[in-house]
Parts: sequence; structure tokens; C-alpha cells
Amino acid sequence: MRYADITGWGKALPPTVLANADLEQLVDTSDDWITARTGIKERRIADGEATEMAEVASRHALAAAGLEADQLDLVVLATCSPESLVPASASYLQARLEAVNAGAMDLNANCSGFVYSYITASALIKAGAANRILVVGVEKLSFITNYLDRNTAILFGDGAGAVILEVTEEPVGLMASELGVDGTTTELLCTPVDGTRGVPGPRDPATSSITLQGQEVFRRAVTMMSESGAAVVSDAGWTIDQVDLLVPHQANRRIIDAVVRRLGLDPSRVFANIHAYGNTSAATVPIALTEALEQGMVAPGNKLVFVAFGGGLTWAAAAVKWGSRIEPINTSDASIPKTDKSLMEVLKPNLDFFRKVDH
Ligand code: UT7
Repeated sequence: MRYADITGWGKALPPTVLANADLEQLVDTSDDWITARTGIKERRIADGEATEMAEVASRHALAAAGLEADQLDLVVLATCSPESLVPASASYLQARLEAVNAGAMDLNANCSGFVYSYITASALIKAGAANRILVVGVEKLSFITNYLDRNTAILFGDGAGAVILEVTEEPVGLMASELGVDGTTTELLCTPVDGTRGVPGPRDPATSSITLQGQEVFRRAVTMMSESGAAVVSDAGWTIDQVDLLVPHQANRRIIDAVVRRLGLDPSRVFANIHAYGNTSAATVPIALTEALEQGMVAPGNKLVFVAFGGGLTWAAAAVKWGSRIEPINTSDASIPKTDKSLMEVLKPNLDFFRKVDH
């Protein structure tokens, strides 16, 4: 039997920090409100392209797996903030990495994109279509976040996380999965027009930022993340008490806490880093997984659950039996270049663009 083991992992966060105190200067909000309602203290803002972050995360994941890029069969890049409509961002990443023997594709399931991609890549390996796949979640949400709109400015940031999947005969990796969507609810969380629905012409700032009906999305996120999480635990033949670590999408600390409560999971068995990076959409789960490994929270043979929910409205869950590797084989010194610009200089194009909207 063929299984797909996670053998490498990595992350990349841009150095520029957008703290709650900075947001207090931009919109009518407060550190106290943001902390109490979301758990977020800081997010990161990219000064470069998304695939620069993806490349750095991927180089760490490749090093951890002890692989060279030319050994990859496929690159799957999960994003809802691609660099262009044509080509897919995965092509830029393939070129940056010189993954000369790989195919490459983007997968957009918004905040659920990494879990969708992980399940897809695992299935391709199990089916014999590939032996080594790089799966990356990367977002430059600062391109589509209006940092003068307090409903969304407080939530979103940039970053990338990556894993390597390799074929193995050991019964590890993806044990059960669920993919879901309710396409009748797209208006609850969307960028109204920033694609071919628009008319040809310059981007309109009024329709080019993420809009969110927060309470309704919150409610649905709690329901679907807990229901799909419980479903994959059961489908894997596990009980909730056997789950060693839940690695959830990081959208709101209160969503994570509510999902843990509904699942009946011991609260010490969840990984959360939302305070540091906010919601980086498809990048949250691989960044969280990487940090959980760095912090020694994953042991060989552990039972993990990934759950995510996002625009679409999509959700996805995976029951994952960890293999044997918990230490990287090699390390990489790849990093995102430091910028001389201040936070406000990095944010200036965003603020200049969205200032044209009537707030
Ligand atoms: O990744 C995809 C999934 N995304 C999500 O799941 C996001 C889900 N939604 C949420 O995380 C939350 O709904 C938010 C964090 C967006 C909002 O939190 P909330 O507890 O639902 O707040 P609310 O919208 O019910 O607003 C409560 C109050 C309102 O004032 P009044 O009407 O009670 O006087 C808002 O006007 O808080 C006010 N408010 C704010 N105050 C300070 C809303 N946003 C802010 C703000 N700062 N940024």
C-alpha cells in the first residue's frame, strides 16, 4: 500500500510587523478590543512578492526533508492572493526553486486551501501519480485588505508555510478527510470584484478588498470546523481522547476555543499562534504545523487533526497519523530580505489605494 508521509516543513514570515498599536493610528479600534475579540496582537506585512515567501518556506521544507528541488514531482500552491491570473503562482515558484522535474498548479479554496491541497496531494501519492510533492500555503493578503476598514484590517496578514509529502509503505499520513463548500454563501466573505467579473480597466478600490460579515462567518466556522473535525476523527477510527494535537486554521482565537470545546478536546492539545500573525488564510495551518514541530509538540506516531474554514464558503479537515521524522534532516539559511522601509512606508501603496474608498 502507498501512503504519503510529511517529511519536511518550513515557514516564512515577512519581517515588517503591523501591531495593534499601529492599527490604533489607522482606524477607530483599540488593542484591548482586538485582543479580547480575536486574540491577535500582531501581523506581518510583505514588501516583496508572495512567491518570495513561498520560496523561503519551501527551501526550509526541502532542507528538512533532505531533498533537492529537482527531486520533486509536483508543486501545489494554495493561495487566494495569486501574483497573476495567468500564469498560476505555482509556475513562478517552480522557476524560483528550479524544480525542473515537477509539475505545478495553484489550488484556491481560500482559507481552507492548504488543507484541500494537502488532501489532494496525499491522494495523488496514494494513487501512484507522484512520489514527492511540495505543498505550500502562501498569502499576500495585504494586497486585498483595506487597512482603513476596521472590520477586516485587524484580522489579516501575510506569510507562507510549506510541507513535503513523500511516498512510504508505512501506514502514516492522511487517514481520513472531509472537503466541503456552501457556494450559496459566497457574499459572506469575498473580494467582490478583482477578477474577470470586473470590467477591463484599473482596479476599483471599492470592490478590491476583502469584505466580511463577521458574525455569520464566525458562527459557520465554529459549526463546520467542529463537525468536520469530529467526522474525520471518527472516520479514522479514533476517539477524540486519542487526538494528540489539533492544528486549526487561525482566524480568531474565540473560534479556535469554541471548536476545541465542541470537540470535547483537552485544551492543551491545540496549537494556536494567531496572536503573532493574525489570519494568513491558506498559510495558517502549515505555519502552525511548522511551529508546533519547532516547539516539540509533535512526537512520532502522533494523531493530528487539521481543520480549516474560509471564503467560498469552504471547509476541510484531515486526520493525520504522523510518521517518524520530527527533526529536520538539514537546515536552510533562506530568509526574506530585510527591508529598510518603515511599516508605514511598506503600507503606503495600500493606504494610498484604499483611501479613495468612502469609509
Ligand atoms: O478565515 C476565514 C474565516 N474568518 C472568520 O472566521 C472571521 C469570523 N469573524 C470574526 O472573527 C469576528 O466576527 C470579528 C473579529 C470580525 C468581529 O468580532 P465580533 O465579536 O463578531 O464583533 P461584532 O462585529 O459583533 O461587533 C461588536 C461591536 C460593534 O459595536 P456595537 O454595535 O456593539 O456598538 C462593532 O461596531 O464592536 C464594534 N467593532 C469594533 N470595535 C473596535 C467592530 N469592529 C471593531 C474594531 N474595533 N475593529
